[in-house]
Amino acid sequence: MIRSTFADRISHDKMKADYKNWMPKGMVMGTAFSALIFMILSIVFISVPVSADVKKVLVPILMVLTVLFILIAIWMYLMYRAFSYDGKRQMSKHIIEGIAGYVKLPDGGKGLDVGCGSGALTIACAIRNPQGTFTGIDRWGKEYASFSKKLCENNSKAEGVNNTSFMQGDATKLPFGDETFDVVTSNFVYHNIPSTDRQAILLETLRTLKKGGTFAIHDIMSKVKYGDMNSFVEKLKKMGYEEVRLIDTTKGMFMTEFEARWMCLSGSALLVGKK
Ligand SMILES: C[S@@+](CC[C@H](N)C(=O)[O-])C[C@H]1O[C@@H](n2cnc3c(N)ncnc32)[C@H](O)[C@@H]1O
Repeated sequence: MIRSTFADRISHDKMKADYKNWMPKGMVMGTAFSALIFMILSIVFISVPVSADVKKVLVPILMVLTVLFILIAIWMYLMYRAFSYDGKRQMSKHIIEGIAGYVKLPDGGKGLDVGCGSGALTIACAIRNPQGTFTGIDRWGKEYASFSKKLCENNSKAEGVNNTSFMQGDATKLPFGDETFDVVTSNFVYHNIPSTDRQAILLETLRTLKKGGTFAIHDIMSKVKYGDMNSFVEKLKKMGYEEVRLIDTTKGMFMTEFEARWMCLSGSALLVGKK
């Protein structure tokens, strides 16, 4: 009896979910490594006998690059620490739980999480909605190399969740028919997609939502990235959508204004409503 309890604990420890980090560790390490290389090159060019003219040009450039890359590496590390699921701030967890709080599936309902990454939001929604199922879709490209379908599946298993499924696909052309889902959600995805029309990407997500279904989509919806979101809200209302609201999440809901500024998350907002 005692042995089996111990074994259970060991296997639970082994199965701890790992949602990784929105600031990829490889990027932080790569930037710090580049700073080190520039520093070494500065020292080499100061010490080796090369012409004074070459030194005059190259050494200041290498020094500026060293300082610049050190500062960027520190900024990235602070972001990494703020996002981390293990850290003190746990901003990612706070945001995921906050969005999942808006997601309610009907009995036997189907939900979609676009750009699911490590499965964090899909799983948080699935845990809160055992009466339905959730699909996470992601492109899983090079820029977020630590996220994968396998990671999502492992995280679901680690959380003891069995109402999730994951698949590869593109948010700009979702492989689902019109009005497939009862709920659609997404977090910090569309601003990553190179596009001149992110409102069109929103409409592509909403296309897959059933009439009467609800949506909760969080992203950096600044004017530069999305255009005029207030007129988009009005457009949705004219199309028949109800209870549409654009909630600023940088005034303490998910982050402070100061955090939004230094973490380049200004404009973060949660678009919620019903089709
Ligand atoms: C910052 S991560 C957020 C992941 C997840 N939504 C979360 O909250 O943890 C951005 C995600 O968007 C995904 N993504 C970027 N462009 C995409 C596209 N065109 N289609 C689907 N997913 C995409 C990336 O692969 C990455 O997993």
